[in-house]
Amino acid sequence: MSEKEIVVSGIRPTGNLHLGNYFGAVKNFIKMQHDTNAHFFIADYHSLTTHPTPADLHNNVRQVLAEYLACGLDPEVATIYLQSDLPETAELYLLLNMNAYLGELERTTSFKDKARQQPENVNAGLLTYPVLMAADIIIHGAKKVPVGKDQEQNLEMARKFAKRFNRMYNVDYFEEPIPYNFGEELVKIPGLDGSGKMGKSEGNGLFLIDDDKTIRKKVMKAKTDSGPTFENSEKPQEIKNLFTIANIVSSQDTVKFFDDAYNNCSIRYGDFKKQLAEDIITFNTPIREKIAAIYADEVYLSKVVKMGAEKARIGATKTIKEVREIIGFKPF
Ligand code: TRP
Repeated sequence: MSEKEIVVSGIRPTGNLHLGNYFGAVKNFIKMQHDTNAHFFIADYHSLTTHPTPADLHNNVRQVLAEYLACGLDPEVATIYLQSDLPETAELYLLLNMNAYLGELERTTSFKDKARQQPENVNAGLLTYPVLMAADIIIHGAKKVPVGKDQEQNLEMARKFAKRFNRMYNVDYFEEPIPYNFGEELVKIPGLDGSGKMGKSEGNGLFLIDDDKTIRKKVMKAKTDSGPTFENSEKPQEIKNLFTIANIVSSQDTVKFFDDAYNNCSIRYGDFKKQLAEDIITFNTPIREKIAAIYADEVYLSKVVKMGAEKARIGATKTIKEVREIIGFKPF
């Protein structure tokens, strides 16, 4: 048995990974899988709150799975599974729901946001989203969860539900999960529109699956100013951003060449962007090809999720059995 701390992370099966994710969360996950007893799952039950079509549901799950595996999540190292392959989570969710109150669920920020975004579909799954998330975590007795700012409240709810269960049944059963802090600060990848951060929705992102043509088009369209007017002037944000990306994908010589050109006012942004696009393509191509290969490899994918589900179920069935006993279900 592993003595490492149990950590759980849910991955939303929506959208594609961009370079910002790659050098952010994904890089941290890759490291975390070695430092902890890591459980990663694709949150496909959760994704039903937005009513995907059956075909979209499957393709989205398959796509995120392929992308994370291509980036280096290792099914031999971590437990990687689909949320819907662990029905024990659904049972725990049902049980936790009995002690989750309408008022507190309605007050959750993510619920209020979602209700505003999809007023025509304010379903009970949305309302109880934090309960399912709590079940995801405590079913494994996880100590820690890596969470971004937007998930802090949901994790707080998970702690609340764990604590409430313990108090209600006068047991010290569930661990109260706290945030997992990644050791080092990572480089934030800026967007191509002059903004601080690469994102999915802002239309400023370079995705791992982008082909050469798309990358060239996006980079050539990236925001720039009219150029430096005096030597060694400070770079405006959008130019700094391009250099930040160049620092990651280009050679030091290339960065120095364009940095010098900026400083002596001879830089031609068109040339800089052309070079940057080619360097991004060089970086992206092997990952993009790997994603495509894994996505197409049904045998491998089915092996991965089967193995993950088997590993995940060992602890989960034990939890459910014990929880049932604690609650008072007794076999006749
Ligand atoms: N709510 C998380 C998100 O939107 C996904 C998620 C579901 C999750 N269950 C989880 C994350 C359990 C961590 C632990 O990103």
